[in-house]
Formats: sequence, C-alpha cells, structure tokens
Amino acid sequence: MSDPLRHLPWDGASRPFTIGMRPIALADWIEVDARLGVYLDEKARLEAADLPTIFRAERGTGPAQQELLDILVGNLVAHQAETHRRDGDRIELPTAGRTIDLGADGPPLLTASRLVQEDICLMRRTDEGWRLAAAALAFPSSWRLADKIGRPMNAIHAPVPGFAGRMDQMVTRIFDNLAPSQPVERFNWSLYDDDRLHHPEPHPKSWRGTDGLIDPARVHVRVERQTLIKLPRSGDIAFTIRVHQGPATLLAGTRSGRLLADDLDGLDGPQRAYKGWSADADDLIALFRGGTAL
Ligand code: HEM
Repeated sequence: MSDPLRHLPWDGASRPFTIGMRPIALADWIEVDARLGVYLDEKARLEAADLPTIFRAERGTGPAQQELLDILVGNLVAHQAETHRRDGDRIELPTAGRTIDLGADGPPLLTASRLVQEDICLMRRTDEGWRLAAAALAFPSSWRLADKIGRPMNAIHAPVPGFAGRMDQMVTRIFDNLAPSQPVERFNWSLYDDDRLHHPEPHPKSWRGTDGLIDPARVHVRVERQTLIKLPRSGDIAFTIRVHQGPATLLAGTRSGRLLADDLDGLDGPQRAYKGWSADADDLIALFRGGTAL
C-alpha cells in the first residue's frame, strides 16, 4: 500500500505547467492505500446523491468501458492481492468492507470506478483530436464533468495558460504514439483551503484569518497523480486521476516545502492568476520556505 504523502511533485521531477510524463510498470498503475474505504464511501455517497455529476458516457463507448474494466480487474487481482480478491463474478475488498459485483447492471466504467481510489476518464481519437468520451469523475480539482464531456483536449484546456499551440500538439502526438498496455504517469499539484475530495469549485483561497494573515493550518496540498494507458483493442486511452492530500504544515520549512516554494516562485503572472494565487503567492512562498506562521 502506498503512503498518502509519497507523491511530492516538487522534488524537481515534475514542474507545474509542463508535460512531464514517464513510463511506469503495470504493477504501479493503480495505487491503493489505507484510505481505500474512505474514497469508495465518498464515491458511493456522490453516486447516490446525483449520478450525472460524477458519471457521463457517450453512446458507443460500452465496449471500451468493458475493455477497461477487464484490464483493471486483471491488474488489481495480479498486483493488489492484499486489497482486491476475485471470487467468481465478484471482487472482494476486505480493507474497504465492500464487495463489488462485476455482473451488475450499469455502465462498466462506473463499476470500474467503484473498485479504486482513482477517477477514470476515457479518451477517444477523433479528427479534432483526443476527446473526453466517458468519465467516472468523483474528485475533480476545480472543474465540472458537464463542462468538459465530449470536448477535445484543446477545448478542455482552454483556460490553462500555455496549453494551446505547442503543448497541445505535443500532447496529441504523445497520445497518438502511446504504446498499448504501457502506462505513463504525470503529476499536478495545487493548494486548497480544505481537504474535501470532491472539489469542482474554482481554486479557493479563503485561508487568511481575521487578522488578514495566511493561517498555515488552512492550507492543504492536493497532488493529482495522473496516468494514461492505451487500451489495445479499442485504441481508446484510459486517463486516471488519483488525489493525494496533506496539510501544508507537514511540509513547511522542509526540503519538499522549499522545493514547492521554488515552483511557486517560478510561476508567471497568468499561471498565478489561473491558480487564483495572484494576491497570495508571496505569502505562500514564505510559508513553505520558512515554516512559520505569517
Ligand atoms: C499529458 C497530458 C496532459 C497534460 C500535459 C495536461 C496539462 C494540464 C495543465 C498544465 C493543467 C493546469 C494544471 C494546474 O492546475 O496546475 C491542466 C488542467 C486540466 N486538465 Fe489536463 N493535461 C493532460 C491531460 C488531460 C486529460 C487527458 C484530461 C481529460 C479529462 C485533462 C483535463 C484537464 C482539466 C479538466 C483541467 C482543468 C481545466 C480548467 O481549469 O478548466 N487533462 N491540464
């Protein structure tokens, strides 16, 4: 099982607003940790409350959804035997206190998302680029599925500074050339003022106390570990997003905190504005460098 804070993306390997992808072993594709039950309970709560908020699929994606489910189940049984056990058509998750019926009615992608802490998007190649064709997305970081479903990568990333043009073209080429069944990973990180998993709202910044100073206890680091794997039969790509979170107080003043501060320092004006940090960046940099209350 993985340590919830093991992905410190400011170790120099992943810079914000860069592509930063590297191949990983199939055994490392999916990450399971001690909070599996917490994530799955929250997915179930969101699913019961309003399914279309967290799940959408275009017509014609059924076979690819099933292909993804089959690959995921095979991977979990092979590499996460401690937490995922197959018993006929059922997967038992003893550490989460759940059993998932693989034969249940409903979209296979939804069944897949009930097995893992990751969210899963299905990307499909069209003439206008790679499009978001289906998604089980319970834990978005400041975006809504309804706004992005069916749209190509350039439209999905329209608000992201620097994505249009070269980065878009490079990403399309990388997606086109992904080797089937060879997963790759990349990271994004952000700062929030709470540790809710379901976070569709824009980047928030109500982390200042009544004295106007940033309260370090209100700053939470949210890391997204993202993976891509090309499905060999359909040619679609499964894009997974796994949220890891931790309080800033754990990092402030440490080597990781200083590296994060350096990354923050390196963001340009549009990048800071996109993140909602224009007014706070200097104080956040001081917090992560020094580890003292501001
Ligand atoms: C290698 C591939 C990709 C790259 C390089 C990339 C890059 C980025 C970057 C730099 C951001 C802004 C990050 C930040 O907040 O720090 C972003 C945001 C985002 N990405 Fe990606 N991305 C990739 C794949 C995808 C895929 C496959 C999806 C499909 C759903 C996706 C959906 C989004 C969304 C919805 C946002 C938020 C956009 C908004 O603010 O409205 N990304 N991406």
